[in-house]
Amino acid sequence: MTKIIHVKTREEMSAIAAKMIKEQINAKPDSVLGLATGSTPELTYAELCSMCERGEVDFSKVKTVNLDEYVGLDETNDQSYRYYMNSHLFDKVNIKPENTHLPCGTADNADAACDEYSELLEKIGTRDIQLLGIGKNGHIGFCEPDTELEARTSVVALTDSTLKANSRFFESVDAMPKKAMTMGMAQIFDAKQIILIAYGKEKVDIVTRALTGKITTNIPASLLQLHMNVTAIIADE
Ligand code: PGA
Repeated sequence: MTKIIHVKTREEMSAIAAKMIKEQINAKPDSVLGLATGSTPELTYAELCSMCERGEVDFSKVKTVNLDEYVGLDETNDQSYRYYMNSHLFDKVNIKPENTHLPCGTADNADAACDEYSELLEKIGTRDIQLLGIGKNGHIGFCEPDTELEARTSVVALTDSTLKANSRFFESVDAMPKKAMTMGMAQIFDAKQIILIAYGKEKVDIVTRALTGKITTNIPASLLQLHMNVTAIIADE
């Protein structure tokens, strides 16, 4: 079941998402959070950092697992998702670094690293909340359209649409990794609650198709219609 919350601004979207995460942690201090990267969750993380600074939320027992990581980028690269998570959230709240997890983008054997990540997800157990953005092509994590949607974490080739969208963070498309490791669809689904956030005109079409259109692997986010507890917080701008 999808609950859709429609708001005007990115700030309102972020405040609602952060409040939901805060309430989850306050209700269960050792919550397991599934986290996302990209522009969309930036303000949600900023809000959570402020809440932590004000003593409204305590991350000391929280564990996190992220959706994905670029193949070939390590934590010192400012475009790696580990760097993003450290700088937007982990370094600014009282979470224990050993409780934060992302796939290892620089592992010698990427496939083996994906298997290790799947084992870790099993060990950590069902997430209490999974935060998700959505790509303009309907991807979630880096589960891209028109590909075999693996159940487990795997290495995927990024589609032209994703390369084009994310090249804004790099000097050029050529400078971008062409592959990433991503949680599989079954793993993304293994969360008690999913919060999907999206803002801006350029996401309206894909969000509408994903949330209310036909369920199809061509739009991976449309599969969320099959999850029992999804809240989509959608902002106009
Ligand atoms: P964005 O990316 O937040 O940078 O728009 C979302 C996504 O690709 O999942």
